[in-house]
Amino acid sequence: MSPLVIARRVVEDEVAVFAGRPEDEEPERHGAPLGVYEYALTLHTQRHEGTEHRLGGEEGRAEGVLGQLPGEEPCVPKDSHGQAYARPGPMRTEDPAGFDLLSTREGYDRWAEIYDGDDNPLVHVEEPVVRALVGDVRGLRVLDAGCGTGRHAVPLSRAGASVTALDFSAGMLAAARRKPGSDAIRFVQHDVTVPLPVADGSFDRVLSCLVADHVHDLVSFWRELGRVCAPGGFVLMTTVHPAMMLRGVQARFIDPITGRETRPASAAHSISDYVMSALEAGLRIGHIAEHAVDDALASRSARSKKYVGWPICFVMRVEPGGESEL
Ligand SMILES: C[S@@+](CC[C@H](N)C(=O)[O-])C[C@H]1O[C@@H](n2cnc3c(N)ncnc32)[C@H](O)[C@@H]1O
Repeated sequence: MSPLVIARRVVEDEVAVFAGRPEDEEPERHGAPLGVYEYALTLHTQRHEGTEHRLGGEEGRAEGVLGQLPGEEPCVPKDSHGQAYARPGPMRTEDPAGFDLLSTREGYDRWAEIYDGDDNPLVHVEEPVVRALVGDVRGLRVLDAGCGTGRHAVPLSRAGASVTALDFSAGMLAAARRKPGSDAIRFVQHDVTVPLPVADGSFDRVLSCLVADHVHDLVSFWRELGRVCAPGGFVLMTTVHPAMMLRGVQARFIDPITGRETRPASAAHSISDYVMSALEAGLRIGHIAEHAVDDALASRSARSKKYVGWPICFVMRVEPGGESEL
């Protein structure tokens, strides 16, 4: 049997999924804004009773998936056996739909100047969630791993925490340092995927916000975050919701210099990847939540409108040591 082809195309700013076999005259369109490979595969399987198809099976193939840089892991959602939902298309640094794919660091260096004023729906949803979960930080030692422009680090410092903030993007760090109140923060340029330059158990709160969707090895990442967290403290991680990745949405911005959509390289993970890697890293899970865009946000944020009802942000709070209660 000829291979099943799952293709993604951007149609009028939304992702559409097409499924079919090469001999089909027209592939079935599972139209905008569905854009979810798994959904397309399920539909396809239902409509072709008797045809065998497994997620991640030999027949699956995707074109123009989420992008991949030479030498990097393909950015393809995986099922819970580590099988890709769909295979990546040919390696490319530019999508035919017209975006530029950069390394994560270079992407954020370019994004830095406009990051804070970008009407980012994910940021709108995530910020109050983090504030509520972090709680009163007066007198606490806080690490912000992947601090970016200091969106969390600066207010936490102003609220009385002693804050250390790490990031590998010089551009993002420079933007953070320009903010009033940033003088009190210890900024360090550092890649959070290599051992952190801080002692074991030295922070009461360890934050890593909207960073994990750029990290491939989640077990090592969690281990380091857990190592530097003091007993009785916790690690708070937020990330682009995996459902967004399946919809073809990942970290992106319009580069004001080129005028083109530009994407820092991302790493696609499923929810089970986040959960199981935390457990494998020896962490205890205290809280998991998924947050969607609601009507109230859509009414004040133009970019949020098309995501109403979609889970956009995934959050985990974990603690070092002990068995998970899940
Ligand atoms: C979406 S921004 C989030 C910034 C900030 N945490 C926030 O929530 O506003 C992602 C940040 O993670 C940083 N980052 C991604 N991968 C990193 C790595 N391996 N080491 C250090 N920083 C990283 C980027 O430079 C960028 O500043």
